[in-house]
Amino acid sequence: MPKQTLWGYPKGLYILFFTEMWERFSYYGMRAILILYLTTKTTEVNAGLGWDKVSALELYGWYTMMVYVMSVPGGLLADRLLGQKKTVMLGGFLLCIGHLILALDALWAFYTGIIFIVFGVGALKPNISTMVGGLYQKGDFKRDSAFTIFYIGINIGAFAAPLLVGYVGEVINWHYGFGLAGIGMALGQIVYLWGQKYLTTVGNFVPIQRETGTNKKVPLTSVEKDRLIVLILSFIIVIVFWGAYEQAGGLMNLYARDKIDRMLYGFEIPASFLQALHAFYVILFGVPVAFFWTKWRKKGKESSSLFKMGVGTIITGFGFLLLAGAAIETASSLDGKAAIYWLFGAYLLHVIGELSISPVALSFITKLAPLKYASLTMGAYFMVSGLGNKLAGIIGEAAQNAGEYTIFMGVFIFCVSFGVLLVVFVKKLKKLTHGADDIDPEIVFVEAE
Ligand code: PHE
Repeated sequence: MPKQTLWGYPKGLYILFFTEMWERFSYYGMRAILILYLTTKTTEVNAGLGWDKVSALELYGWYTMMVYVMSVPGGLLADRLLGQKKTVMLGGFLLCIGHLILALDALWAFYTGIIFIVFGVGALKPNISTMVGGLYQKGDFKRDSAFTIFYIGINIGAFAAPLLVGYVGEVINWHYGFGLAGIGMALGQIVYLWGQKYLTTVGNFVPIQRETGTNKKVPLTSVEKDRLIVLILSFIIVIVFWGAYEQAGGLMNLYARDKIDRMLYGFEIPASFLQALHAFYVILFGVPVAFFWTKWRKKGKESSSLFKMGVGTIITGFGFLLLAGAAIETASSLDGKAAIYWLFGAYLLHVIGELSISPVALSFITKLAPLKYASLTMGAYFMVSGLGNKLAGIIGEAAQNAGEYTIFMGVFIFCVSFGVLLVVFVKKLKKLTHGADDIDPEIVFVEAE
């Protein structure tokens, strides 16, 4: 069969690109207005559910945790029963139903909708990423750039969603907003169904071969034990990082609504618009940050994964120092509001941190884990990201009693101290990896397939 390519990439990549772009559009669109909807009074013209902030942040934490935790059964379903391609299709259907149910104005619809979304993301998100890799032959150098393109798709969706869904939901009607997120997902599903003809060779079910009795119970060697320690440490870094970063959709979203002066040239920017900033910065700085680290390495400077993650944690922490600055201004200004620029700066630092942590952590974790557990490790990475999201919710809840200033300063001090410790002890920690960090991640990925 002739290879079906377009502009140097398999056509299937574009199908996965647009499907995931719309899936993220629906996810981030809904998420941009979720906390605002929950906490808006029932007496407003555009009535919300009138919850107090603590309960709303609690639900937000559980919801954003569960979508990623469900990636573990989602991955298993694909591996054991359906293959990735069909599991993505199933996830897409669940997401269309879930988002469209949210368009109905009833409490039962709200709970039913988010349960569908939790299962839908769990089925779709991990498996569509695996399919991107599956489009390539072993060792193909273009595979890395395919992932970069795919990541851009994610962020285009995440950028457009808060602007469109945010505007319709926050300014016009929450349920129209949820409905618009649903229409986005439906478009994604249409693209995916239409594009099946370009995905014939990828994501099909392959029965797993049973392990032979001899290598079932291998006691861990001392090298593996050491690596396990660093693996757990890197999971902790991931939890700490997302715990700080993912406050964006919860605590910081509420903060932007209530305590930031959002008037710009006579136009009041809806709070949900600010949710687009992360993705905007990722699109803008993704390539420069990757380029910076490559140059840094070429100069022969310390550039281990743990070092980059340490530096990323410190930079993210400084984002919270800016937020603490906003909290000081809020307390001292006459109208009780701080300038919007604090948020622009804070989100920028968060994204620079993200770009030094998220992709690095993913490849680091795959390098440390025993090869035969590669998919499980991917699932575990999603799961710990989910735990980070839950942590973000808990921190947001704590801010309701402790006050934002205390919480922002606390996160700042914690992240910076944690990051500095990583950087200081990087040499010792690196020893525990027994050279795993020096292996080309591409090789490990390929071998693991
Ligand atoms: N922006 C990323 C995405 O939506 C955030 C993320 C990282 C989500 C890791 C899950 C796991 O894909």
